Amino acid sequence: MDFALETDGVILKPGAKLQVQKCIDGNEFYHRAEIMSARQTEGGQTEYYVHFIDFNKRLDEWVPISRMDLSSLELPANEGKGATANHPSNKTKGQVGRKRKRPLKNEDSPNKTKKDLLKSPSLASISSSDAAVSIDASSVASGGMSKAQELEKLRRGGSMTQRLEEVSRVKNIDRIEFGHHLVQTWYFSPYPQEICGTTGDSTVYICEFCLFYFGSRQQLARHREKCTCFHPPGNEIYRSGNHSFWELDGHRQKTYCRNLCLISKLFLDHKTLFYDVDPFLFYVLTENDETGCHLLGYFSKEKESAEHYNVACILTLPQHQRKGYGRLLIEFSYELTRREGTTGSPEKPLSDLGLLSYRSYWSETIVSVLMSDAPYLWNDGEEARRDITDDTRYTISIDQISKATGITPEDILHTLQAMEAIRYRRGQHIIVLSDKHINDFEKNRKKNRLKVDSKALQWTPPVFTASQLRFL
Ligand code: ACO
Ligand code: ZN
Repeated sequence: MDFALETDGVILKPGAKLQVQKCIDGNEFYHRAEIMSARQTEGGQTEYYVHFIDFNKRLDEWVPISRMDLSSLELPANEGKGATANHPSNKTKGQVGRKRKRPLKNEDSPNKTKKDLLKSPSLASISSSDAAVSIDASSVASGGMSKAQELEKLRRGGSMTQRLEEVSRVKNIDRIEFGHHLVQTWYFSPYPQEICGTTGDSTVYICEFCLFYFGSRQQLARHREKCTCFHPPGNEIYRSGNHSFWELDGHRQKTYCRNLCLISKLFLDHKTLFYDVDPFLFYVLTENDETGCHLLGYFSKEKESAEHYNVACILTLPQHQRKGYGRLLIEFSYELTRREGTTGSPEKPLSDLGLLSYRSYWSETIVSVLMSDAPYLWNDGEEARRDITDDTRYTISIDQISKATGITPEDILHTLQAMEAIRYRRGQHIIVLSDKHINDFEKNRKKNRLKVDSKALQWTPPVFTASQLRFL
């Protein structure tokens, strides 16, 4: 949208930058933002779509002029001068008593990749009595940063989008109605314009079972009268309690998978292929009741991945986030990988929330292997603990942890480094778990977490012929 609005003698154009009021987790502060677009609301008010510089695009939003500090306006370099500091609006804004809170400081954690560790057959040992590292494994995401600091750092890490033209995309849908939930969207998704309109303040109505989308509630209601779908298409490969996983083939269940990708794009800003679903399998998690199997989240997986990715995209619908489903999806993806007799890693780049969830899963899984009481049997039947020399020290290699968990040696090493659990002692690298790690592990074990029940998985890895993998 091309626009140049004159407000109080100040011209607001795309590319102009100024301080805009932002509220995160109840904290209000001003932050530099770039104007991307403008719209007229139904009430005739002008709103501006702004991107907060260095913040994740998820935090972009429509704001009225009352949230802008016009005195700080800077026009794009070739547009001449911006508003002067003496602009009349300066005083008005100054009087509202706003406080600029500085976002949390972030410091880069050292990222020491020790490739030699992966290659060397060096053994790692674990000591439960070492209290030298005071690191909280449950609340520390990386190198001594608290989860809040890490999140802040990631949030400020900017957009994950690889394509420049995507960066400028303005969110086109404000919210979706999905089952009983009205959900605020995060990013642009290429729904047809006749469904989402052009102003960006629309609601899209989605059938929670077949994922077809409509521009009005009436259209959805008419559809629901005819729709016979009460669960995802494809094979139910897992059922435990009231949760199921369904395996869908992007080639066979194309429409559903495309619609699923359209939804997931609303909450992911680095996905660019929505229609090319053929190369992927989709694993959909549902919660089942007498009214049907309700979508909670999913992950997609390449049918053949040269890079050994075991997850392409992963999503928990926002209304179900922070309840452990993301972790369940991740655990399930590794369960499949172990059944395949291999190891895998999620496709990069990870989003901020993706990284948090994976770090949490990786660290807890690795610690649980190290803390395992029973002699651990690896996939090939080899016992790892035969070198136990006392209660707290034993030898185990990163490769063995990898075999037991399906997590790649690289991800294991990075996780241990982020936990600050790798030490160099008496000429060899060792893993040292502090008392804190161990206490946190015990605490997490007591949490009533949803876990994958491997007995409930009825699945053999699908095999595709060369011609099935030739996607046209
Ligand atoms: N703030 C702080 N911690 C968080 C947050 C958050 N907003 N969200 C998740 N976490 C942490 C949790 O604390 C938890 O750790 P814990 O078990 O040690 O407490 C861990 O991450 C997992 O939490 P879950 O409740 O299991 O995860 P959730 O169901 O919320 O799903 C997911 C996580 C899938 C990443 C979700 O946030 C999401 O769908 N985000 C949008 C899409 C996205 O970014 N996907 C990943 C892209 S990368 C890729 O696709 C390969
Ligand atoms: Zn339907």
